[in-house]
Amino acid sequence: MSLFSDKLKGLTSDIFSKKEKSVLGIDISSSTIKVVQLGRSKGKAVLETYGELALGPYAGVDAGRATSLPTQKLGEAVADLIREAKGTATACGVAMPLSASLINVIEMPDVGEDKLKSMVPIEVRKYIPVAISEVVLDWRVVPRILADTARPDAAADEKNRKAEVLTVAVHKDTLTRYHEVMKVANLVPSFYEIEVFSTIRASLEEDLSPTMIMGLGAGSTKVYIVDRKVLRESHIINRGSQEITLAISRAMGVTEVRAEELKRTYGVVKQGTDTDVAEIASLVLDSIFTESRHIMESYQKKHSRNIGKVLLTGGGIMLPGIVERAKTVFQTDVSIADPFRKVEAPAFLDNVLKSVGPDFDVAIGVALRRLEEEA
Ligand SMILES: Nc1ncnc2c1ncn2[C@@H]1O[C@H](COP(=O)(O)OP(=O)(O)OP(=O)(O)O)[C@@H](O)[C@H]1O
Ligand SMILES: [Mg+2]
Repeated sequence: MSLFSDKLKGLTSDIFSKKEKSVLGIDISSSTIKVVQLGRSKGKAVLETYGELALGPYAGVDAGRATSLPTQKLGEAVADLIREAKGTATACGVAMPLSASLINVIEMPDVGEDKLKSMVPIEVRKYIPVAISEVVLDWRVVPRILADTARPDAAADEKNRKAEVLTVAVHKDTLTRYHEVMKVANLVPSFYEIEVFSTIRASLEEDLSPTMIMGLGAGSTKVYIVDRKVLRESHIINRGSQEITLAISRAMGVTEVRAEELKRTYGVVKQGTDTDVAEIASLVLDSIFTESRHIMESYQKKHSRNIGKVLLTGGGIMLPGIVERAKTVFQTDVSIADPFRKVEAPAFLDNVLKSVGPDFDVAIGVALRRLEEEA
């Protein structure tokens, strides 16, 4: 079982050559499911269809709210979405939430991959709160050049050289549940991948410099630090865009549906005397940004590397005024991820895709990996 693929070939879209087969990338998130179908034409990944479905109504809550659905219902929702989006491919991959995984970068003696095979599962026990037999474990040695930069002293001393190993663990029960969900939807995925790796594949450009990727979802915000294209840290902040809606609803005494509308209209932009929404939204957003800034500063300090870029992704980044606010807080280059840039799409969809793009980073990343497997 491979929980991630560090082959970031999907970073460039002109890699595909052989069969003209289509694949589905499926992102099962807390408030939505997203699906993307990619095909291949003249060596490029081509968008065939995509769709999104709010899970709220399946759980009896408002659209946009995070949910936790039973297996059968979630499977039915996946099937409904693929039908509505007119997805036809049977080849697929599925992204699992970061919260379902434990990811660590651990330091090991540099004894070569063969020896590490028996050592890593023992060492990783320190970082995993359940028995190792209960999880599926996947790991990769972090490329040397990065380890050397991170630990200049180790590079100097050949004997004490350490290897850094990225480990990913998922509880077997979680995998079984996802398998059941997909069975209800009549699909057999060729892999399950943690969403962080899909996001990186879909959003990161050909850039080696340290980047912080922030994924603003409904129920949580995910913060990833990627250095030389390798994941170094991943964090979950248990506040997402839904928190902004709830704060507006509470403070202004309006329904959540109205609060969601107000959030999407005003965001954190003050308009004339109409400043209430912006002020409430800013309070929540700033608390998320401040926590992310601490993560950023702590990485910079620990590794003596400057993070020169913040990449925003996830549905929550459609909040009006968010980029300006992020620039003020992070005092660095801030941009919005554009995952559809990695695929060719009909020209008339260009504008639509630019605005919905960040929402689909995970689904696109999964589909790109699945397409690589087909190549
Ligand atoms: N135009 C918009 N303006 C502001 N916020 C928006 C807009 N569109 C969507 N959102 C917010 O984005 C959030 C959904 O984002 P996303 O689809 O990334 O979440 P998710 O993938 O379901 O969550 P997670 O990955 O955390 O489980 C919702 O809280 C929604 O209110
Ligand atoms: Mg998501």
